[in-house]
Amino acid sequence: MVERNPGLLGGNKLKLGLFGANCSGGLAFTKLPERWNGSWEGNERLAMLADQVGFECMVPIARWSGFGGASNVNSKSWETLTWATGLLAKTSRITVFGTVHVPMVHPVFAAKQMVTADHIGHGRFGLNIVCGWNKSEFDMFGVEALAHDLRYKYGEDWFNVVKSLWAAKEPQDYTSEFFDLKKLTGEPAPYGGVAPITMSAGASETGRDFAIRNVDLHFDYCRTPEESRGRIAETKALAQAAGRNINVWIPASVVCRGTRELAQQYAMHCVENADWEALDEQYRLYTGAFGSKTRSSAETEYVRHQQQVRAVLGYGGSYSLCGSPDDVAEQLAQLSNAGFDGVAISFVNYLEEMPFFVQEVLPRLARKGLRAQ
Ligand SMILES: Cc1cc2nc3c(=O)[nH]c(=O)nc-3n(C[C@H](O)[C@H](O)[C@H](O)COP(=O)(O)O)c2cc1C
Repeated sequence: MVERNPGLLGGNKLKLGLFGANCSGGLAFTKLPERWNGSWEGNERLAMLADQVGFECMVPIARWSGFGGASNVNSKSWETLTWATGLLAKTSRITVFGTVHVPMVHPVFAAKQMVTADHIGHGRFGLNIVCGWNKSEFDMFGVEALAHDLRYKYGEDWFNVVKSLWAAKEPQDYTSEFFDLKKLTGEPAPYGGVAPITMSAGASETGRDFAIRNVDLHFDYCRTPEESRGRIAETKALAQAAGRNINVWIPASVVCRGTRELAQQYAMHCVENADWEALDEQYRLYTGAFGSKTRSSAETEYVRHQQQVRAVLGYGGSYSLCGSPDDVAEQLAQLSNAGFDGVAISFVNYLEEMPFFVQEVLPRLARKGLRAQ
């Protein structure tokens, strides 16, 4: 049996991924000149480093336009399925996710493209299913968006089409509320005949239900590890009751320096140089009439006003890991202890900051028994 997506299910107690490197700025809304430019060369070097040091995955952001402001965060980005394909060809063990906005991409096209990436990566492709929240991007495609919860219903149907194609031995028709497709056929099957690993990151109850029914990894939010403990246990229990297993991950920005003071100073320097205009635009789109008006937006509001570091370095509200190597290793241990299976991290400048994290934080995680050396 072929080993698919090595180390992502099972493996290290706390798994690590890199999040957002395919976009200029990554997750950081700062005008600082050292911010990530997202070049292809940078992505290639980063993927090879992450692969070499045993990170489990890379997760891109599917983004079609920037957020304006002086830095126009995410205005330059790589389309994620081709990005994943290129990185899979350059690496040997790491899983690289491609992120698909399901309302914008036809499932027959996506299924074929994902299988191609998967074979190039010898079974290391992963799929992130995004149902969409950004009206300006729907407008770019001329696509009228469905109401929030209906988007997830469509997403489930879309994913069923993809799975039918991946499993099809003979041409078959697919008829549903949203699709009427004739004689679907799509050889070859995914690498080893087993479907790629999947993730989704809906924060609303509908979004989480979608994850529980359909995917292997749910990316959730986290205000504090202690507050997350019950929700993670509930997510896993609901999946088990439905006969499935699910891992729970979170995204987190990292500022790690030789001392806690240096790290905090740099984080505040990022806030002082925040691109508030871009962040306001992201916030407007995310919480507007069209976007998520759910618990996730309440969370965003909380961090927007009370924890500026989280907002500025984490796309409006990802968790923040900040401090000395001891601090950051301890903060990661707390997340693991609360039940998170993995953390997808981002840096202001991934390539400049990653070597210090690798050198100082990874050995500490190994000593805590969270990861193999
Ligand atoms: C780790 C992670 C990755 C995500 N990737 C994308 C992405 O690439 N593109 C996008 O438009 N939204 C992305 N999202 C947004 C979610 O898919 C989702 O729309 C958002 O959390 C709102 O949740 P809701 O739809 O349940 O209200 C991501 C969120 C997280 C936490």
